[in-house]
Amino acid sequence: MTGLPTDRDSFGSKFGVIAATAGSAVGLGNIWRFPLVTTQNGGGAFLLLYIGFVLIIGIPVMLSEFSIGRRAQQNAFGSFKKLAPKTPWFMVGFLGILTAFAILAFYSTVAGWTFEYLFQSISGKLLTVDNMEENFSDFSTGTVRPLFWQLLVMLITGVVVYAGIKKGIEKFTKILMPVLVLLILFVAVRSVTLEGAMEGVRYLFLPDWSVVNFKTVLMALGQAAFSLSIGMGTLITYGSYIQKDNHLLSTSTQVALTDTFVAILSSLMVIPAIFAFSDVVVSDLSPGPGLVFEVLPNVFNAMPGGVIFSAIFFGLLSLAALTSTISVLEVVVAWLKEELRLTRKAATIIASISITLLGILATLSFGELREFTIFGKTIFGLLDYASANIMLTFGALLIVIFVGWKMGESDFLEEISNRGTIQSVFFKIIFYIIRYIAPVAIGIITIANFFISGIV
Ligand code: PHE
Repeated sequence: MTGLPTDRDSFGSKFGVIAATAGSAVGLGNIWRFPLVTTQNGGGAFLLLYIGFVLIIGIPVMLSEFSIGRRAQQNAFGSFKKLAPKTPWFMVGFLGILTAFAILAFYSTVAGWTFEYLFQSISGKLLTVDNMEENFSDFSTGTVRPLFWQLLVMLITGVVVYAGIKKGIEKFTKILMPVLVLLILFVAVRSVTLEGAMEGVRYLFLPDWSVVNFKTVLMALGQAAFSLSIGMGTLITYGSYIQKDNHLLSTSTQVALTDTFVAILSSLMVIPAIFAFSDVVVSDLSPGPGLVFEVLPNVFNAMPGGVIFSAIFFGLLSLAALTSTISVLEVVVAWLKEELRLTRKAATIIASISITLLGILATLSFGELREFTIFGKTIFGLLDYASANIMLTFGALLIVIFVGWKMGESDFLEEISNRGTIQSVFFKIIFYIIRYIAPVAIGIITIANFFISGIV
């Protein structure tokens, strides 16, 4: 009798739920991507837009996903099939599986880079480098080394996922998340207390609205979705492992706030240090993934005790990446396991290998496959842009429409109030945000984006 809800693995404690979900949310999106898109999209103004999206869209979508998963007790695909049988809603789950492939493919490339830089920090090599741009490009355009690290990332991810929810994902994140937050605080405090760092802090917190346009708004929404791990069913999958007495609104709020706090701390780690130690003008930084791999290592080298900080920084980046990669792989594994009735072992092996194959293309798109472009973007660039700004935002749109219009008020309220055992004035307000405000806001931004990118 496989597949019955009682057979399913689940999280063992409330802290375990928070650690695993915050582990998914906090990742390269916060530490590598957030400072990058913030500096490319106007600093403080972008930050404010971002926080607005986390509050009005992020938390409601998170709660929607949790309630879908916990109610259905199924993977992201099976949940829609169960809650809306004989309708095409399962396509939303399928979109989520595709998005998981896209994200993990390029994410494991960057996670691999962080392992290389951790290695270079510990071995002392980074200290001896004169030209950081050259160091990064020599490494990232190569073949064997970046692929080696990517495979290692996928292997560790696979091992944790194979161990299951309680014994794998929960155990791993319960230990790592507190360590991670403490390390980030430590490096952020160091960065903002450097001489000259205040200019960077000002850049981050003083908004310049003149640079904001529709593209900025879209990037802020895409970044919020990416960073909160919403829009593709990660939280539907995790939600299906959450106990029935968990206060889902409180869990969502705690996770969203932790993630936002870490995103802000990460910018405080990266941007003020750059202002303090290098002659790079932040707004002139060339677009590209190199910010934390080119500019920051120079900063570490110029800083007293820099070796230690660089090892801590790349170490925490690697750990943050792993607590996210496991959540993406679990989406695909849960789907294969429950829909194709595979064992967890077989599902993990098949999912890891097939995602790795796509991931190899993403990694090679900096080297051998550099010239190969689609819509003017390399494979890596396309996977990054399309997943965050198109697939996740579209997924989030469909999820709120599903909860607001298909699942409906009474089922949703029943789920988030734990069958009426908890009350909150926010429940109804959030339902109305999910039904009206979130779809309109996400819809406008999604449609406007099609016009801007020239697709329409
Ligand atoms: N939220 C993760 C990060 O910020 C990335 C992620 C996206 C994980 C979508 C799961 C799903 O790094």
